Amino acid sequence: MIVLRPPEVGQHREWLDFVGEFAGAHIAGASADAMLLSTLGDPTAYQAWVAAMGAHERGEDLPPGRVACTTRWIEQDGEIVGSINLRHELTDYLLREGGHIGYAVRPSARRRGVATAALRLMLAQASRLGINPVLVTCDEDNLASARTIERCGGVLEDVREGHRRYWITLPDTPQGYAVRPLDCQPLRGRLVELRPVTEDLAARVKAGEPQPDWAPDFPREDDLVALAMHGEDGTPAQTWGSRLIVRRRDGAVVGTLGFYGPPDETGRVEIGYGLVPSARGAGLITDALALAVPAALAAGATVQAHTRADNVASQAALVRAGLRATGARNAAEEWHYLIERPGGTA
Ligand SMILES: CC(C)(COP(=O)(O)OP(=O)(O)OC[C@H]1O[C@@H](n2cnc3c(N)ncnc32)[C@H](O)[C@@H]1OP(=O)(O)O)[C@@H](O)C(=O)NCCC(=O)NCCS
Repeated sequence: MIVLRPPEVGQHREWLDFVGEFAGAHIAGASADAMLLSTLGDPTAYQAWVAAMGAHERGEDLPPGRVACTTRWIEQDGEIVGSINLRHELTDYLLREGGHIGYAVRPSARRRGVATAALRLMLAQASRLGINPVLVTCDEDNLASARTIERCGGVLEDVREGHRRYWITLPDTPQGYAVRPLDCQPLRGRLVELRPVTEDLAARVKAGEPQPDWAPDFPREDDLVALAMHGEDGTPAQTWGSRLIVRRRDGAVVGTLGFYGPPDETGRVEIGYGLVPSARGAGLITDALALAVPAALAAGATVQAHTRADNVASQAALVRAGLRATGARNAAEEWHYLIERPGGTA
């Protein structure tokens, strides 16, 4: 029987035996790079590493840019036959190529269903953590891994820079819906480009450094708030965060558009946007929403917006993007607009 076991201090010898079989090759899912692996023959270093993995699973003491991660050894009849890990969130890098889950099986245990069984068990763990859908990737020419992912229900989204990217949608998750993270690539329309905000830019904005490509009246107060929210909670700022609205005609940054955080428990995201006064009245927001709303729907989200009752321009742009007024207002007397995810009832 295949089981997933948390790394244990008492299994140092068995673990070294497992590692030895890879003869220095990278061990996917082991949560250790070659440099770290080379130090782990020492029992004290090994103990510290096992403790660190426990902390990382709880989201504690994470190195910069790292997210919480569950690491397990794959055991069969008491022998360590593989390693597998589950990253609880996607960074830009993980969304592009690393995915949520990595795994490896020792050469002597391959081709007997170990990886397939282990991936199924880790998907159950992802479900318990509310991660759905799950991104699993492999090198384009890694037939064994591609087959493993497909056996577990992976649907190929694309092949990006030599990596096959599969999404696995889990049936019975606590949320009961599946929303994928938004892609962090720039989106280009007829009049504007939506450019994700980098960590570097957010830091410059927070430090009050104006950028040469900003329109003279950028940023507005609201833009500053949107940019300051970037990565505020310590998670890599990405996917559902702010985008700069760049006017294609002259490359000027004229506003921001973004979502106020990831989808809620019903799969809804709230979109917000604004242009500097000098860029208004030229169709730019209509073009920006025509990029962002379909992207959010394609990810599986329901999109909602609130706009002041007298903001006719904003309402017209929302309607052109397919949202409809629901007739509801919030405490600030703003009208509520909504477009549901395909097949959704949020
Ligand atoms: C990829 C890897 C984890 C597969 O482990 P495994 O335990 O041998 O996989 P399984 O036995 O569960 O096989 C899964 C499927 O791949 C197929 N497969 C396995 N090895 C294969 C090979 N060398 N060529 C083609 N297909 C192969 C199996 O036939 C099976 O398909 P099937 O169910 O349709 O018969 C293992 O080869 C490995 O550790 N490779 C190095 C690390 C790695 O590539 N990790 C993945 C990173 S994304």
